[in-house]
Amino acid sequence: MDNLHNETVGFILARRSVRSFEPRGVEPEKVSILLECGFAAPSSKNSQPCHLIVIDDKELLRKMGNSVEQFRMLTEAPLAIAVAVDVENYERVHKMTDGTWIEDASATIENILIAARTLGLEGCWLQVLNRSEREEVALSALNIPNGAKILALAVLGYGKEHKSKHKGAPEERVHKNAW
Ligand SMILES: Cc1cc2nc3c(=O)[nH]c(=O)nc-3n(C[C@H](O)[C@H](O)[C@H](O)COP(=O)(O)O)c2cc1C
Repeated sequence: MDNLHNETVGFILARRSVRSFEPRGVEPEKVSILLECGFAAPSSKNSQPCHLIVIDDKELLRKMGNSVEQFRMLTEAPLAIAVAVDVENYERVHKMTDGTWIEDASATIENILIAARTLGLEGCWLQVLNRSEREEVALSALNIPNGAKILALAVLGYGKEHKSKHKGAPEERVHKNAW
């Protein structure tokens, strides 16, 4: 099956969580591609609810990174993209109160993280939703309107760490036709 291992598969397997970064910034052309890929994610009922907030202001990244321990990686990262949804509006317009926006936003951040890998960047999914201290810091620092929430931050940059690729499917978690 090795001949089916094309470049795209290679990038998906090579995506790892990297949390330390070189100081150099991410080129604007690459940021544009990351945004394009984020917005290309599938969404339930094609609701496309995500807002992406590009955070490249060093002072803001440092301030957020120093505000809560779990955000520390932001003090080194040149870039983060917050994936946010106006949940109140989403629930009203789409009549969905079952949290489906979380799946939409998850697809969006995963697209961004995989696209980052293809561009020679590394990154990490940094959870915000349902982590009260992180939410308090991020919602206020990014001026998120009432009723909107942040799923997570994609923390991005040129990585300082190199991690091995994912490989293989764990047999005990693969089932055929039934669990
Ligand atoms: C929903 C979700 C939340 C995560 N939250 C964090 C987080 O808050 N901080 C962090 O350092 N990594 C976070 N991660 C990254 C995971 O720790 C990482 O994906 C996992 O350890 C597997 O490693 P890999 O990404 O290198 O394959 C999160 C990942 C997901 C999918």
